[in-house]
Amino acid sequence: MPLNIGIVGAGYVGLVTGACLSDIGHNVTCIDTDKKKIDLINKKITPIYEKELASLLKKNKILATNRYEKSISNKDLIFICVGTPSLECGSQDLSYIKKTCKQIGKNLENETTIVMKSSVLPGTTEEIVTPLIEKHSKLVAGKDFSILVNPEFLREGNAVYDFKNPNRIIIGHNRGNGKKTLTELYEGFDCPKVYTSIRAAEMIKYASNAFLSTKISFINEIGNLCKKLNIDVYEVANGMGHDPRIGPHFLNAGIGWGGSCFPKDTKALIEKGKALGVDLKIIENAVKVNDLQPLKIIELLKKHIKNISGKEIGVLGLSFKPDTDDIRDSRSIPIISKLIEENAKIKAYDPKAIENFKKLFPTIKYCKPEEVLDSDAVLILTDWKEFEKLDYKGKIVIDGRRIQKARNKSRIYEGVCW
Ligand code: UDX
Repeated sequence: MPLNIGIVGAGYVGLVTGACLSDIGHNVTCIDTDKKKIDLINKKITPIYEKELASLLKKNKILATNRYEKSISNKDLIFICVGTPSLECGSQDLSYIKKTCKQIGKNLENETTIVMKSSVLPGTTEEIVTPLIEKHSKLVAGKDFSILVNPEFLREGNAVYDFKNPNRIIIGHNRGNGKKTLTELYEGFDCPKVYTSIRAAEMIKYASNAFLSTKISFINEIGNLCKKLNIDVYEVANGMGHDPRIGPHFLNAGIGWGGSCFPKDTKALIEKGKALGVDLKIIENAVKVNDLQPLKIIELLKKHIKNISGKEIGVLGLSFKPDTDDIRDSRSIPIISKLIEENAKIKAYDPKAIENFKKLFPTIKYCKPEEVLDSDAVLILTDWKEFEKLDYKGKIVIDGRRIQKARNKSRIYEGVCW
């Protein structure tokens, strides 16, 4: 039976969730404060680049609005998908969550199920979200309405696929009918449904992201050692990955991790640990390795061009990973900052992220890949598939992401960890 669903926050997570739920027949209303975004969604145009999202928006009828009363009242389910960015100190900024709770509370009706999809630190749903909604609605959680935690594990660039093909669905619940409603919503999804406490569900998200970030930092550290020993870390990772206890995924060494989740979630967890007197040494060091890793590419560049001041340095790839226009915490940011600091002349190309990058770095030159290749040296910072098709013959290439064609064809080639 189609459910009436309200989605608060039409960003990567909210819009993908809304589009996918609409695609399986539910009535979806998205609410966002960004008027431009709302207009685009109502015109069936995606405000972000995400594979398959444009066709889902075209095919389905999703209503977008900035009016809470429209998206909260008369709903079976409300998903909270607003951002939880980092504050300067690393801890979590809950201002969007708090505003959302107030508005939901003001418009809430009995029997609604509220689902937290925003990533919030353990304890937040019970200690902040629930009391705020109760205060503004004058309703009681577990009796008049339900509140659950259902974290997302969507990879940007593959978010629609990941939503439709989850490897597990985590449902954190306490009291109320919400568990039944959410279980019914996910009935058609063929994967384990894991029922936990609300706090455990919140922690699963952070522990998963901290683990994956640590796994990458681990292989990068091994890769830094391999480089000195003249060993190809990818051969090592392949050999390790056949052990099912280790697994083959997330062992691609390079210039480190960025994006909207890993950097902010690891920092938030470390800050939470500090507040509770728990030193999260492994995660802290995973972050430290990641902060230093991008600069390895500059060290390697200087092996071949001692003084980069005034030299033309080409940059291929600006987004934090392929198939997205997202540049949040992209490893290209510290690398380009360092190049600017050392007075290099930068020529950069990215298939999707140039417009976003221009906002941060308006003065560097943006151009076609062929022009980028016509530089004193070229740095590869994102593993876009199309970089496998470029002509690297005769070039000096320092590769942060292991592009095979560059490995085979460049005149001088250096891999960051291989
Ligand atoms: C991640 C999680 O995968 C997802 O489950 C969570 O919900 C959000 O955070 P995402 O940030 O989209 O997703 O990207 P992901 O594919 O995980 O990559 C993150 C970063 O790690 C990228 O910068 C990527 O280049 C880097 N990475 C990834 C590596 O350097 N090596 C690897 O082996 C894998």
